[in-house]
Amino acid sequence: MKKRTLLGDLTPAQFLKDYWHKKPCVIRQALPGFGPLLERDALFEMAAREDVESRLVTQFKQKWEMQSGPQTALPALTKKNWTLLVQGVNLHDDAADALLRQFNFLPDARLDDLMISYASDNGGVGPHFDSYDVFLLQAQGTRRWRIGAQTDLTLQQGVPLKILKHFAPTEEFDLEPGDMLYLPPHYAHEGVAIGECMTYSIGFRAPSFQELGEAFLTFMTDSIDLPGRYADPALTATTRPAEISSAMLAQVSAELNKVQFTKDDIAIFLGEYLSEPKASVFFEGPKRPLTLDKFMALAGKRGVALSRKTQMLYRGELIFINGESFEVDAADKALLSVLADSRVLSAVLTATASQDVAEALHDWYRQGWLNVIK
Ligand code: SIN
Ligand code: CO
Repeated sequence: MKKRTLLGDLTPAQFLKDYWHKKPCVIRQALPGFGPLLERDALFEMAAREDVESRLVTQFKQKWEMQSGPQTALPALTKKNWTLLVQGVNLHDDAADALLRQFNFLPDARLDDLMISYASDNGGVGPHFDSYDVFLLQAQGTRRWRIGAQTDLTLQQGVPLKILKHFAPTEEFDLEPGDMLYLPPHYAHEGVAIGECMTYSIGFRAPSFQELGEAFLTFMTDSIDLPGRYADPALTATTRPAEISSAMLAQVSAELNKVQFTKDDIAIFLGEYLSEPKASVFFEGPKRPLTLDKFMALAGKRGVALSRKTQMLYRGELIFINGESFEVDAADKALLSVLADSRVLSAVLTATASQDVAEALHDWYRQGWLNVIK
């Protein structure tokens, strides 16, 4: 018998081949018996925090409004037509992090966050499309999704959120707890709560090339090395002093064309960029950190686990963690890639760490990037 995954009867390979980026997919009972990982009140408390991104979307008296968090005064539960969206719940809650990690048949570099939405009866964020793939997992109550493959993605003007001007859905599904809907990027959809409901969105990250290009040029400023200074020993008198001469342009062009970048530069940039924590993420190290020896003695007995907030990636002999990069030898790479992939390093493996890796682990522990397993 085939093992059931959270993609129902589909294997990750089948799902990626037939649906990913291509067409929607409803997976009934993707997670049988699934229920909210956080109670409603805990979610509301989270939305009131300064370090949590949230939005309140209301459609009272037919008027769309949106308010960014912290959310200190939510509408009454009995009032219809409102939705609270809490972003990055995985950064703050172990169970939410564990749920997000169940999607690790997709690369960490693509996985973004777990967003939880709470909606009062009839609540929703209106018909829209997203620029990213999304899995919409129903956690509580019923949500009615209407979706369509329309190409007219014109948005309404003068509203504080993205609402399609013409929404022409062709399919409708009621999702119950444990059911999941996958939508490819730019697929029109609208989810409306049938009674109070909670939906979990597993979101993906797809940086625009413009964003990558701008960040890459900033990254490259650190490695540019152009010795010398502009000089014009053969300068002759001009009657057009305001003109930039062809000779000046040629000399500067020749120098700037020396700025080259290699695939290795791009690999370092990409790893640092994709592992950089979001602006709202703060790490807290231990108040009284153990010394290196004591840390390794304990970690060698219990193992270590990455913090929920840590993003660790690798490529070749390069290791990236929270925006920093390190070049390592093959043995260290073997160990650190286990930590990066599984987000834990067993006691047995931790005990085999080289001096370099032990120092790195200790440094990351002191910064709150990883913890000794309890
Ligand atoms: C929601 O969960 O309310 C909205 C999610 C979405 O439509 O992308
Ligand atoms: Co959406």
